[in-house]
Amino acid sequence: MDDIIKDIEEKYRNLGQNPETYLKGLYHSKPINYWDYIELDTLLTLQKPRTDFPDEPIFIMYHQVTELLLKLITHEIKQIVDNELIDTKLFREKIERINRYAGVLTASFSVMREGMDYDQYNQFRLTLAPASGFQSAQFRFIELFCTDAHLLVNARTKSQVNDSTDMEFLFENLYWKDGGLDHKTGKKTLTLQHFEDKYLDSLKLAANKYKGKNVYHRFLSLDQNDEDVKELKYAMREFDHTYNVIWPMAHIKTAAYYLNSKGENKAATGGSEWQKYLHPSYQRRIFFPQLWTAEEIENWGK
Ligand code: HEM
Repeated sequence: MDDIIKDIEEKYRNLGQNPETYLKGLYHSKPINYWDYIELDTLLTLQKPRTDFPDEPIFIMYHQVTELLLKLITHEIKQIVDNELIDTKLFREKIERINRYAGVLTASFSVMREGMDYDQYNQFRLTLAPASGFQSAQFRFIELFCTDAHLLVNARTKSQVNDSTDMEFLFENLYWKDGGLDHKTGKKTLTLQHFEDKYLDSLKLAANKYKGKNVYHRFLSLDQNDEDVKELKYAMREFDHTYNVIWPMAHIKTAAYYLNSKGENKAATGGSEWQKYLHPSYQRRIFFPQLWTAEEIENWGK
């Protein structure tokens, strides 16, 4: 007890503060409880349905759960990319954590596919236009923390770009721009316009900041003959495949069930040509291309 009091005194004296004030403050402070610690009251009031359909809160909450999982993934990624001296053991620990979160994302997607009433969904979704999961900024930031922008351009442009291509050109040709074009007019959808107004500048900043310092580059800078790096490579491949093939497949199957299972081919709230755009073999989003064989890349998402 004496030791800890001494440590506290020293801590506050070093900060130029009077330790007695802090100890008295501690004496008066209320004990913390579970609901305040995790901000439960706030968390449980964040669901604001736009209709009275009982299944709409499921849709909202599952998106919120997904955003929290994306935040957990980002939390680990940032500890890789912001640590120039990261060692292989810690790197692998982080990627394995990410793989667990990505596993939860994919395994739980049935909450969307099987867990809502078809007719209710197809009515309440009409009140959401032009909002779409397409506007998830965390989803886009994760891409730029993981790999270089020139690896995220659409398949038509990939052969024309490399790591010295101008960032503005790369941004004009990012694969996800295809999802933001109205397939009838070829113009930018309102969904994409809103998204770019809010996030484009910060996405460009992130792309420039992490170019050459993202997860992919941190991995490539390790000694590739090291046995531990070979193990890490498998974990990285699992992440790339789960996030860029298995999750998109679960997602597109859900979209097909709600929007096309009766052959009605309904327009999505974001207005994209989603049947084509959402398929991993069309997007060809691959974070770590050197970790795959030419054949594996050729068959990506097939
Ligand atoms: C019934 C469930 C869902 C359906 C029918 C659905 C449908 C769609 C469609 C059609 C698109 C293409 C853009 C558009 O035109 O709107 C899209 C994009 C997207 N959605 Fe969903 N979605 C569902 C659930 C979710 C959930 C739970 C998330 C989690 C945040 C999500 C995240 C995304 C993302 C990140 C994109 C962009 C994907 C990319 O660019 O590769 N979606 N969704």
